[in-house]
Amino acid sequence: MPICASCGQDNPDIAKFCLACAAPLAPQAPTTEERKLITVLFTDIVGSTAKAENMDPEDVRARLAPYYVRLRTELEHFGGTVEKFIGDAVVALFGAPVAHEDDPERAVRAAFAVCRAIDELNAEDEWLDLQVRVGVNTGEALVVVGARASEGEGVASGDVMNTAARLQSAAPVDGILVGELTYVATRDAIDYSEAEPIAAKGKSEPVRVWEAVGVKDEAHKPVADAVTFVGREREAKALTEVWSTAIAEQRPALVTIVGPPGIGKSRLLAEFARRAGQEGRVHWGRCLPYGEGITYWPVTEVVKSAAGILQSDDRETIAGKLDGFLETLATDDLDELRTIAAALSNLIGIPTTPRGTYATAEISQGELHWGIRRMLQLLASREPTALIVEDLHWAEPTLLELIAYIAAEETESPLAIVCSTRPELAETSPGFLGTEGRRRTIELGTLDREQGKALLADLLGDPSLAETRFASSLIANAGGNPLFLEETVRMLRDRGLVD
Ligand SMILES: Nc1ncnc2c1ncn2[C@@H]1O[C@H](COP(=O)(O)OP(=O)(O)OP(=O)(O)O)[C@@H](O)[C@H]1O
Ligand SMILES: [Mg+2]
Repeated sequence: MPICASCGQDNPDIAKFCLACAAPLAPQAPTTEERKLITVLFTDIVGSTAKAENMDPEDVRARLAPYYVRLRTELEHFGGTVEKFIGDAVVALFGAPVAHEDDPERAVRAAFAVCRAIDELNAEDEWLDLQVRVGVNTGEALVVVGARASEGEGVASGDVMNTAARLQSAAPVDGILVGELTYVATRDAIDYSEAEPIAAKGKSEPVRVWEAVGVKDEAHKPVADAVTFVGREREAKALTEVWSTAIAEQRPALVTIVGPPGIGKSRLLAEFARRAGQEGRVHWGRCLPYGEGITYWPVTEVVKSAAGILQSDDRETIAGKLDGFLETLATDDLDELRTIAAALSNLIGIPTTPRGTYATAEISQGELHWGIRRMLQLLASREPTALIVEDLHWAEPTLLELIAYIAAEETESPLAIVCSTRPELAETSPGFLGTEGRRRTIELGTLDREQGKALLADLLGDPSLAETRFASSLIANAGGNPLFLEETVRMLRDRGLVD
């Protein structure tokens, strides 16, 4: 029976339009299929049928309409596709038809957003009194190529879907339960507690499950450096040179490290930051792949770090700290300070601080960029400053413009902007990467065999193991990518194959 993608109504097979809302129903689904790794989010209302029994169906529909609209918005915001409605349940897919490299994390973040949205809906209308359970599961599915979920066509099928439904039904009320692959793919970004394994249809063994309890702190932390830093002498030297030149010539410099995921950009930056921190101040910011108000996110992080603003600070404390920070900037020019104050309070999203007379909304982009640049110059005039901006492949053009604008400034300031990006930036913003003037690009390639061996020895904690044939094939498979090596060793360790 065709289910309406707009309102969830079941319709008779011959219907071309939905009986409830008149939306066009999908024609027969195309038949080409492919196997894909997807993440399924399954959410259902707790006890809805019991409540609905005593209510007029019209009332039930009216009660749930805002819920469906809100859920679809949240899920799509994170790049998910609503695949279908089954009664009150909603099934969304991440990874099909559109795939992102971080689909499991998107799905779990979307699950938190769903829970928050339910809280908000309940607060707006007590009568709703909704409670949900969410299951998230990652696995291989058979995906129909070209299926139009928006028109009610089924997109994916497979065990991963059934298990997602099972996880949902076992989840705590207003809680999120995830399967093993989702857990493994997201444990660096999400906090979990392991829950009681559950029995699932068609599985002889109970399935291991985890409850998602929170998103780890967004504040940027440089990558952990438990493992010894290997190789990269040439690139580290190039970075040091850029830094030393910025200091010696008192001029801004821009350098961008380009390389594929996991190759070691962040790690190289962490090493650079450690050394640069001995001579000056280092601030970190990174671009985010999705979310609201992300255009200037890295700059916001930098301002927060420079002003000592914490994630947990309330608005009053933030305004106070921003004021204190402005006091420390070495300028007596009140006009200048006012523009900087307006720019920074705009970035942080608080009403103008007492020293700024601008209303936050009134500032133009030109003033905003000027204010940010001037603030950075003043910071750098106090002590040499390195600004690390990570993951530019996610940056919006406006941020790239701002970075180029800051770096092109001739005013005296020992300011090095050190960025990282995956190679796709060369396609999306070819003008940004270059080597003219004070702008440089450093390509980060794979580790060579000896370096791979050294990293493996450290990861395994046993140099003799790194000499074995098994180790050579591990290194060959990882292709000189340190993240792949780490992940392989972690997997072997998880399965008890190495200590
Ligand atoms: N030279 C190195 N020596 C030792 N470990 C390294 C080295 N380079 C990278 N690693 C380790 O490999 C992993 C991946 O590196 P990193 O996070 O720096 O990659 P990345 O290029 O920033 O990837 P992404 O594009 O996903 O941000 C990290 O755990 C890091 O500590
Ligand atoms: Mg990185």
